[in-house]
Amino acid sequence: MPYKNLSLPKLANRPFFYTSFAQTIDGKVYINKKGYWPIASKTDYETFTYLRSYADVIIDGKNTAIRFAKYTIDTIHSDEFKKLREKNGKVGTPKYLVLTKHPDETLTKILENPYEYNPTIFQKEISELVEYLKGKNAKAVFVDGGPHVIASLLRAKLLDEFFITISPRIFGNTENLAITMVEGLLLEPDEVKLELLSTEIVENELYLRYKVIY
Ligand SMILES: NC(=O)c1ccc[n+]([C@@H]2O[C@H](COP(=O)([O-])OP(=O)(O)OC[C@H]3O[C@@H](n4cnc5c(N)ncnc54)[C@H](OP(=O)(O)O)[C@@H]3O)[C@@H](O)[C@H]2O)c1
Repeated sequence: MPYKNLSLPKLANRPFFYTSFAQTIDGKVYINKKGYWPIASKTDYETFTYLRSYADVIIDGKNTAIRFAKYTIDTIHSDEFKKLREKNGKVGTPKYLVLTKHPDETLTKILENPYEYNPTIFQKEISELVEYLKGKNAKAVFVDGGPHVIASLLRAKLLDEFFITISPRIFGNTENLAITMVEGLLLEPDEVKLELLSTEIVENELYLRYKVIY
């Protein structure tokens, strides 16, 4: 598996924010049609779980939460995940934060769980997120996504690293069915500066780690 013996930077003034995306070689992270998920391999899913095991807090936008919160909550309570965390020197279960300005019954129902675990529905502005997370003593914050949340965090200069899996697939697009890793925002051509930290090939996939330069 890639990113063996991962070491995440500790920032002095705020938590470290990182994300992981699986995408096709034509840059698609989701197609709103049956049969297009998952995008990448089992190794990518294991890598995603491994990366999340380093988090103090996991953040989802409402749309990603509606699709995946049940799996996320089950995963972070699994024995396998707990063992992984212990091995990585992390204590306890990560907090789970869902960003939404419009919480509704669908979301509340999806967040119900048998673990006496209380995800947080965060309704404030992104500008208030850092202080909130500092108050929770969060050092490493994994952002699941999705692309609208990634856009907000980039604009707020809060995203520090991208872990990207390139899956050897091409989906194309029609009728706006496809989305890419950043949606709802057109960045200036050189607004985000990136440094390539590592590349790894596993079978037919490429694993890229990029740091955002601020
Ligand atoms: N390929 C991958 O690795 C990958 C990874 C993650 C997600 N995805 C895919 O991405 C899709 C969802 O992406 P998405 O972009 O539609 O939704 P999203 O980013 O998960 O959620 C967006 C929603 O979050 C809420 N929100 C609250 N504060 C926000 C803020 N500051 N910035 C942005 N959003 C905020 C808004 O809902 P309210 O109107 O309720 O406020 C907004 O509509 C899913 O289908 C998932 O499968 C793919």
